[in-house]
Amino acid sequence: MLEIKNAIAAKIVEKLKELNPNVTMDVSEAAAMLEYPPDPKMGDLALPCFKMSKTMRMAPVKIAATIAEGFDLDVVERAEAVNGYFNIFLNAQKLSEKVVGEVLEKGDKYGAPTFGEGKTVVLDYSSPNVAKPFHIGHLGTTVIGHSLKMLHEFAGYKCVGINYLGDWGTQFGKLITAYRLWGSKDKIEEGGVDALVELYVRINNAITEDSTLADQARAEFRKLEEGDEENLKLWKWFIDISLEEYQKTYAQLNITFDSYKGESFYTDKMPAQVQKLRDMGLMKIDDGASIVDLEEYGMPPCLILKRDGSTLYPTRDIAAAVYRKQTYDFDKAIYVTSAGQSLHFAQWFKVVELMGYDWYDKLVHVPYGTVSINGEKLATRTGNVILLRDLFALAIEKVAGIMEEKNPNLEGKEKIAEQIGVGAVVFYYLSNNRIRDINFVMEDALSFDGNTGPYVQYTYARTCSVLSKSAGYDRDAALTITAPEEGELVKVLSRFEENVREAIDTYEPSVITRYILDVAGAYNRFYHNCSILGAENEAVKNTRLKLTEAAKTVLGNAFGLICLAKTEKV
Ligand code: ARG
Repeated sequence: MLEIKNAIAAKIVEKLKELNPNVTMDVSEAAAMLEYPPDPKMGDLALPCFKMSKTMRMAPVKIAATIAEGFDLDVVERAEAVNGYFNIFLNAQKLSEKVVGEVLEKGDKYGAPTFGEGKTVVLDYSSPNVAKPFHIGHLGTTVIGHSLKMLHEFAGYKCVGINYLGDWGTQFGKLITAYRLWGSKDKIEEGGVDALVELYVRINNAITEDSTLADQARAEFRKLEEGDEENLKLWKWFIDISLEEYQKTYAQLNITFDSYKGESFYTDKMPAQVQKLRDMGLMKIDDGASIVDLEEYGMPPCLILKRDGSTLYPTRDIAAAVYRKQTYDFDKAIYVTSAGQSLHFAQWFKVVELMGYDWYDKLVHVPYGTVSINGEKLATRTGNVILLRDLFALAIEKVAGIMEEKNPNLEGKEKIAEQIGVGAVVFYYLSNNRIRDINFVMEDALSFDGNTGPYVQYTYARTCSVLSKSAGYDRDAALTITAPEEGELVKVLSRFEENVREAIDTYEPSVITRYILDVAGAYNRFYHNCSILGAENEAVKNTRLKLTEAAKTVLGNAFGLICLAKTEKV
């Protein structure tokens, strides 16, 4: 559709120039002004002429009428001026030839912009804190982060996904102390990350009653920092155990990372940045701590060193950003975290700017809202947090139950139940604008006939089933468009790239989930109203199979952008 929009826009500009040679509007501006009318009676595309009426000193009605007069273009069926709008109706046959041809030719590249080619994006996401629970608060960073990675990769960027593990800090002193007091190798090996979390919760409780334990924990952490062999061994082991657990969740989501360099990696990279801050006179001592004053910028100070000289969260982020710039020479560095960390990012981004790093404006924080859960009590061993793993497990179990009723003989049903259960959670979560706080209602997420993951995955499976029931189709045969639902489906398919661009521009995977619903809706209307395998003749049948293939391709490509599995059978 972008190409068509540009062709129409070029024609519009040409007409406007005829009307007034001083018009400065260029083609891309005109293309950006083209809208999709909410009511198809008003055309497939429309240009509102109100804004330009000011600069052109001419009534919108007159401008629209002038453009419409004798407007002819290959894919345009007719064009008309109505109340200051220039409305364009596309020729369904020609549009279909163009769009379906392109989808089938480009396949898994259909809809991909190319503006990222030759550029690198570094994405910091998921990043759980080792030995603390991997809970539903991490759902956002994990799936939004990965979707943004897929979107950028689709647009040609080289992407580096970094899991910036919270693998350093006083919690390890606590954990080591707790392990020595109450833990054992067997218990941890058996209980995995849960056993670690249990130890962590236990020591935190114990510390409130016996403060010497806190001193002990601090001492253990100091020993770790000094490279004590025993403590280092325990520390590494705790990380491995935690990672093993996270990997299970990542595997369910089909997520992999390119780097697991966590906070600990930057220990020896911080002093240089601290020194630079000092040398540049940016650091101030405040009540013993070292800070960068940001009052001028309307923010509280950024903490660099605690009173005892130890480093802090912003210190590490600054050192990590410098390292990543040197290592990957990124064009963009994206950080996906809860909106609760927005101030932290605004602060240290500012510090990076003050330090004179000219890439400060390539740092992007992508915040998201909170998640709460309604109606389902998820038992956890860790108090009031809900583990991501348990949320997925519950969804999978429910889907398996539904499938057992609907289709008990389905081959590979366990894997499918997992894909649909996880997909339901992901799709539900990504259906909202990321910044909104969401309330998770499992029943809604799992419904097969709402705007849900199961519904769109089911639609994908439907396209597969139609194609596999057919004896194939002739790719090269011409299309014969006969029903309005065919043209409507094609129009939706034609908008894929625009949606991809918008999702990238706004860091908003929900643009893709909404688009997937549009495609699924259009395909299902087509499916219900147009007989495919029983079509009236071979030409129509072949056309409908090609449309099915095109819908399958677009759905599949879009699923790939939001961690949704392509379920061929449901
Ligand atoms: N580990 C942190 C947490 O769980 C998130 C890290 C985000 N990334 C960063 N570069 N600060 O809250």
